[in-house]
Amino acid sequence: MLFKQQALLRQKLFVLGSLAIGSVLYLVARVGTLDRLQPICPIEGRLTPQELEQIPLRALQFKRGLFHELRKGNATKEQIRLHNLVQQLPRAIIIGVRKGGTRALLEMLNLHPAVVKASQEIHFFDNDQNYARGMDWYRGKMPFSFPHQITIEKSPAYFITEEVPERIFKMNSSIKLLIIVREPTTRAISDYTQVLEGKERKNKTYHKFESLAMDANTCEVNTKYKAVRTSIYTKHLDRWLKYFPVEQFHIVDGDRLITDPLPELQLVEHFLNLPSRISQYNLYFNATRGFYCLRFNIVFNKCLAGSKGRIHPEVDPAVVTKLQKFFHPFNQKFSQITGRTFNWP
Ligand code: A3P
Repeated sequence: MLFKQQALLRQKLFVLGSLAIGSVLYLVARVGTLDRLQPICPIEGRLTPQELEQIPLRALQFKRGLFHELRKGNATKEQIRLHNLVQQLPRAIIIGVRKGGTRALLEMLNLHPAVVKASQEIHFFDNDQNYARGMDWYRGKMPFSFPHQITIEKSPAYFITEEVPERIFKMNSSIKLLIIVREPTTRAISDYTQVLEGKERKNKTYHKFESLAMDANTCEVNTKYKAVRTSIYTKHLDRWLKYFPVEQFHIVDGDRLITDPLPELQLVEHFLNLPSRISQYNLYFNATRGFYCLRFNIVFNKCLAGSKGRIHPEVDPAVVTKLQKFFHPFNQKFSQITGRTFNWP
């Protein structure tokens, strides 16, 4: 009898002991997590290695789940307060270039746990009506984020719109500016293809690319054609350089983002003073799409919408060559200024 009671007591002590050890281990883990969740500011200056370690690798599932609900307006004010979520002005903007791969760049950067994207193009700085609504309106368009995260928005029209550099400068003179470029002739044809598709959707006819890109009278490149003008990257950059030093820009090679995205993304992480967190695991080539797609975690992955990666119409090779020759000196100047070289003809 006594022996039985002792055995029972030993059993109880064992269970209680296990519970106590478990609780201690849990508390240690919690404190560790909370420690890592302390907000830090990764963008203002370069971070020390210790600070880099503090950037929380919080679950992407959480980022997706709660942020998704917030975007749909389903999260409660309590949740926002509890998680210390805020709507922050962007600390980096993808200012262009249209059809350079701006959407792919934004979506891929959003894989980083310290980055939160504004899903829609806000068109705050290039649209007078929106700009007149003021900075609070702009902030209100931003996604919810943890204070230590950085918000990024993209509006490709910013790059080519006259008033934008000054307006962005007035908001934040030390903002980081990302420009993604593609081989200029390909970009112009991509631009044309998008417009053509819009016309076809409305059952409208449209000119051939050749007749828009070339001046029929002079047989020279038609610099009045917007798709051509947009591809003269250095002309637009000149306007920006009146406000921002060249160090505040980072140029992304859009052609390389298509064929081998990771090294391009790592360069951007470095530019944004973020620890390298996007890995090959997050990017997989989808043979059906012919593009890299995004893997957030074991259950969630996605490719870009079908409007990205359209089939371009055939263009007269003589016109292509003429355009390439036309862009060449501008490209050289662009490379000289930015320090980035490309595999362009
Ligand atoms: P095309 O449709 O001409 O192929 P933007 O987002 O600035 O409009 O750029 C669109 C371009 O992004 C597409 O141009 C496509 O080539 C390019 N792109 C880059 N990476 C991509 C990806 N992973 N998936 C789809 N398109 C991608």
